[in-house]
This record gives sequence, structure tokens and C-alpha cells, in this order.
Amino acid sequence: MFVKLASESELPAINQAKEFTCGEKTICVASVGGEVSAMNNICLHRGGPIGQGVVEDGKVICPWHGWGWDAKTGEAGPGVKVEVYPVKIEDGNLLIEL
Ligand code: FES
Repeated sequence: MFVKLASESELPAINQAKEFTCGEKTICVASVGGEVSAMNNICLHRGGPIGQGVVEDGKVICPWHGWGWDAKTGEAGPGVKVEVYPVKIEDGNLLIEL
């Protein structure tokens, strides 16, 4: 089931990322070239807030130690992957399926 995560006006600017809270989860929303995607915000390295990082080459760079998380696949390397969630924009809102 899709639920509202944010309104479109709150979304990160192109090639930026931002954190959002949904229930007990924190979600990293990234806009890579204007394409919005969402993944779990908690870095698998030491729990850093991925969504506070910058976007480089389609990856969100964790601000703590620089691991790069692919915004589309959630991967930072072979076998290292955070959960990616389907999103869609409807009626001016970003909806997410957790
Ligand atoms: S906690 Fe993210 S790179 Fe270390």
C-alpha cells in the first residue's frame, strides 16, 4: 500500500538528497537528474544518515565515511544493499510503498 511521505514541494532539489520520517522508519529520498527514488536512510556501515549526504554520479554519499549508495538499487558494493522502496507522485504528493 502506498502512503504519503511528503508533498512534492518538500522534495530534494535535483541531484540532492533529503531525509523523511515515515512511522518508525527514516527514508532517504534522492533526486538523481530529477528522477526521485527512496531507500532506507540507515547506512549499513555504522548507521550514518544517508539522506544527509550529497549526490554524486547517481549515488548518495553517506556523510559519515563516504560510502556511496546507488539511488536506484540501494547498493554500495557487491552484497551490500539497503532496502529500496517504490515511489510515485500523485496529486502533488510523493507516495511510498514500505
Ligand atoms: S556510516 Fe555511512 S559510511 Fe560509515
